Amino acid sequence: MTSLQGELKWWQSGIIYQIYPRSYQDSNGDGVGDLPGITARLPYVASLGVQAVWLSPIFKSPMRDFGYDVADYCDIDPVFGTLEQFDALVAEAHRLGLKVMLDYVPNHTSSDHAWFQEALTGKASAKRDWYVWRDPAPDGGLPNNWKSFFGGPAWTLDEASGQYYLHQFLPSQPDLNWRNPDVRAAMFDVLRFWMRRGVDGFRVDVIWLLAEDERFLDEPENPDADREVVGGQIEHSTLLHIYTQDQPETHDYVREMRRVIDEFDDRMMVGEIYLPLDKLLPYSGTPEAPMVHLPFNFHLILLPWDAQTIRQFADEYDAASNAAGAWPNWVLGNHDQHRFKTRVGAAQYRVAQTLLLTLRGTPTVYYGDEIGMENVPVPPEKMVDPSGLQQPDSPDAGRDPERTPMQWEAAPGAGFTAAGTEPWLPLTDNFAQVNVQVQEQDSQSDLNYFRALTRLRQEQPALVGGSYRSLDSGHADVFAFERELNGERLTVWLNFRGEERAVAATGQTLLSSRGDQPAAQSPLRGHEARVVLG
Ligand code: GLC
Repeated sequence: MTSLQGELKWWQSGIIYQIYPRSYQDSNGDGVGDLPGITARLPYVASLGVQAVWLSPIFKSPMRDFGYDVADYCDIDPVFGTLEQFDALVAEAHRLGLKVMLDYVPNHTSSDHAWFQEALTGKASAKRDWYVWRDPAPDGGLPNNWKSFFGGPAWTLDEASGQYYLHQFLPSQPDLNWRNPDVRAAMFDVLRFWMRRGVDGFRVDVIWLLAEDERFLDEPENPDADREVVGGQIEHSTLLHIYTQDQPETHDYVREMRRVIDEFDDRMMVGEIYLPLDKLLPYSGTPEAPMVHLPFNFHLILLPWDAQTIRQFADEYDAASNAAGAWPNWVLGNHDQHRFKTRVGAAQYRVAQTLLLTLRGTPTVYYGDEIGMENVPVPPEKMVDPSGLQQPDSPDAGRDPERTPMQWEAAPGAGFTAAGTEPWLPLTDNFAQVNVQVQEQDSQSDLNYFRALTRLRQEQPALVGGSYRSLDSGHADVFAFERELNGERLTVWLNFRGEERAVAATGQTLLSSRGDQPAAQSPLRGHEARVVLG
């Protein structure tokens, strides 16, 4: 019997594991994680049953946005290590059967980048047009009303030339001008540089923002601004971003980018895209003109945690993906979003984890979520994230709580850094209880539950390549669905509430979030997730 699994690419059958390098493992005692630290922890990563590691940016950077402000795309920042250490990381990952994905930041550079420094020398500079410049408005003010994601205008005046430059994020993150073919050529060479070094794929930062409308018109007010605040960006949400996001030219550039990826064998890219379904799926492109392999689907983060809402979305997304010939994907957490255990609540944590790893499509897992790390309260004097610092009135804008050091063991420094060294962000108070070492020894731990789920994906091809169909569970608060492949059928039962619910499951229970194997037809206990064969 042929299983579909053999026909799937690694980025379809495997799980992507995101590492935020500053917080994974410090190997030189400076309180910041680094590449040798990650390399040393790769056997742990492999033990999770994941397929690929995605590293948030490790390139040379002044770190004003912690690496999402790149000063040299083809070098490693000294805080993380060297190119040689990067090569060693890739070799070790490949030895362990893991793919390596980098974070490609094409929309903007750091203001420290040599290109921008050259552009600043004046209007005649050869690099001037590599960025987006506008004269002041007739009254001498800002060119238009566009806003930065982190609050304040998206324009900063360069006093020397009297022109403004565009930045959708910090003033120290000037937007590149993707209309300029030289910019595209230079940025595509960056992809080639890393693919030649053995990199298997890229997560592409804010890919839906690459182009702006050439007329530079004011964006209209958002009438639903109060209800539509994403990521705590209150001021940015007051406008409808019809001229700065999802432009037709962006689609062209992504197609061009894909052709570069396809110059090399078996590589991939996943695009960061915060858009509704009808605008998200087109980023997969068509068979003739493909775009990204995976357009990140963030809806499990954005939707209310409610069985009916999630069922409805999963049904729509699965059908729309099939219709578009696109491979689906799911995300519960990343470095920009509050920890999912904090968002859905501890009681629902395993329900959410089970959902992520059993829906049809590639799951992306954020480091530490496998041991149930939660948001860590960061006191004002320790806050470092510019998004939080620039938006003090928005309690959700700060991203420090979800970026704290990985909790490896109960020792001082949590095994992340040397005893006595202050980590760049505070450790959680309860790291002595919630850490890898403790959970390795406990067969009922969150870590071992995660591994049980990834093992199940390996043992049951239907969970990876099988079709998806939601089931009528008989209860508004129980989401149930089946996965089916070559006559093998699994059903997944998720209780979003604390009360017991009778369900019509039949067959053999393969896994329960409670750690036992109750009869399939026995009532679903409060907050229970169950995977059943048959
Ligand atoms: C993306 C990154 C975020 C960063 C921003 C600017 O949204 O995920 O962390 O601040 O782009 O590069």
